[in-house]
Amino acid sequence: MVLKDLGTADWWRQAVVYQIYPRSFSDSDGDGIGDLPGITSRVPYLRDLGVDAVWLSPFYPSELADGGYDVADYRNVDPRLGTLDDFDAMSAALHAAGIKLIVDIVPNHTSDQHEWFQAALAAGRGSDERDRYHFFEGKGENGDEPPNDWQSHFGGPAWHRVDEPDGTPGQWYLHMFAREQPDLNWERDDVRADFEHTLRFWSDRGVDGFRIDVAHYLRKDLSEPFAPFAVVGLGELTLNPDHPFSDRDEVHEIYRAWRKVFDEYTPPRTAVAEAWVHKTRLAPYASAEGLGQAFNFDLLVSEFEASQFREIIEENLERSAETGSSSTWVLSNHDVTRHATRYGLPAGLGHHAAAWTLAGGAHDEVDTAVGEARARAATMLLLALPGSTYLYQGEELGLHEVGDIPAQSRQDPTFFRTEGKEVGRDGCRVPLPWSGTGSSFGFGSDGAHLPQPAWFADYAVAVEADDAASTLNLYRRALALRGELQTAETLTWIEHPSASVLAFERPGGWRSFTNFGSEPVDLPEGEILLASTDSADGRLPGNATVWMR
Ligand code: GLC
Repeated sequence: MVLKDLGTADWWRQAVVYQIYPRSFSDSDGDGIGDLPGITSRVPYLRDLGVDAVWLSPFYPSELADGGYDVADYRNVDPRLGTLDDFDAMSAALHAAGIKLIVDIVPNHTSDQHEWFQAALAAGRGSDERDRYHFFEGKGENGDEPPNDWQSHFGGPAWHRVDEPDGTPGQWYLHMFAREQPDLNWERDDVRADFEHTLRFWSDRGVDGFRIDVAHYLRKDLSEPFAPFAVVGLGELTLNPDHPFSDRDEVHEIYRAWRKVFDEYTPPRTAVAEAWVHKTRLAPYASAEGLGQAFNFDLLVSEFEASQFREIIEENLERSAETGSSSTWVLSNHDVTRHATRYGLPAGLGHHAAAWTLAGGAHDEVDTAVGEARARAATMLLLALPGSTYLYQGEELGLHEVGDIPAQSRQDPTFFRTEGKEVGRDGCRVPLPWSGTGSSFGFGSDGAHLPQPAWFADYAVAVEADDAASTLNLYRRALALRGELQTAETLTWIEHPSASVLAFERPGGWRSFTNFGSEPVDLPEGEILLASTDSADGRLPGNATVWMR
């Protein structure tokens, strides 16, 4: 019995979701920036790849201080990316191809260009408009020191001082990310109502689900005295329910209200939380009364190593069984170093996804062939697991991180706010190569907003489509097979004599074997359905996965 039926309310449980970073996917009008008509033109590609849904990173009007995660208008399309009509055409084309559509919602902060923030600046101290954000007086004699010592995610203080309407230096506002991303005050009813309006706006337009950005940050306790930065930290997976801004229990009230909105629709709209919280506190985000699903990022920070993968898989399957949600498997996204590159790093440098620690120079040490072999093996392993798998654009080409983007072309606020000490995330956001030749490798008719290296030619869609052994063709075959083989959300581990092998069986006799070591190992009897690397002698080579029956 095939349980995955995209026509039902449960379509998301074992869906393969393909993340599109719209500005870097496909450019229809030659301005160097990917756009919605570009996505529409590639729907046949997505259909042939065999994905069940696409998730679009933000495509809303934005000053692009943070790649679109600084939203100036939540219910519109950035004119550089198209119009609402283009959105409807894209949505219709995806749906006609049987592909669901998920959009990104960024509720923790707006852009500083958002009309609310502009109104807050104009209205001045003590106003209702300022209360929609977190404005405070500064410390020190003239209020010229920030209210506290908290730091922001992209480097530098989490506070920025504004000029008051009369031109004098004035209050400070909180921004946990870039200074162009002021944090909203989620105690306000109008903030809550406006986001519910946004969820209905896109649901009414036929959007099937939402990815919720920084879902654990919305509620804050900013009463004084403030805890010092050394105590509150940043990005640590806190167990403290009284943490001033991360993972406070009240945040779930917001999502319970959103669940009611999602359930107004048939089928109910889905949601997945981006919540970097302690694993024991992920359940309420994923529960059916909450957002319904939450990303598990454990594999992003794991080594390419059998026992670590097994532990992570076991834990996550247990956790999703407790909440009734399904697991989410991710190896790459727009925030981390591409996994083909991570896995090519020498042992010791780590295969974890901290893009911000991978300085440009480390790229000289990447063994690209080993990285790609491991990436193919790991992806096949993920695709055999119960639950849903999130793929990031370009990984189906085995694409590597671009390490040598010149400083003058960098866009990530991390690069600027750390004065280049951390290169940031541009290397995984370089526009995709569609053809082996031509301007911007077929991305558009002219340039690309981030420079593409010459080696992109070898990874182009058209080149890989013609190569039976390419990563693209492996993904296509794997997704088609998964569609046929996917059954109930359970697995049974198979013990293998080699400690470097991770093997399991799904109902119906679908077996997956991954060899994390470098030496070939024996395989049991059976029919080989698909292999990430060819093996002439019927053994499983190192850094490889096979599916058997
Ligand atoms: C999330 C996004 C990231 C963005 C940040 C701030 O972590 O994935 O790209 O920079 O939120 O919105």
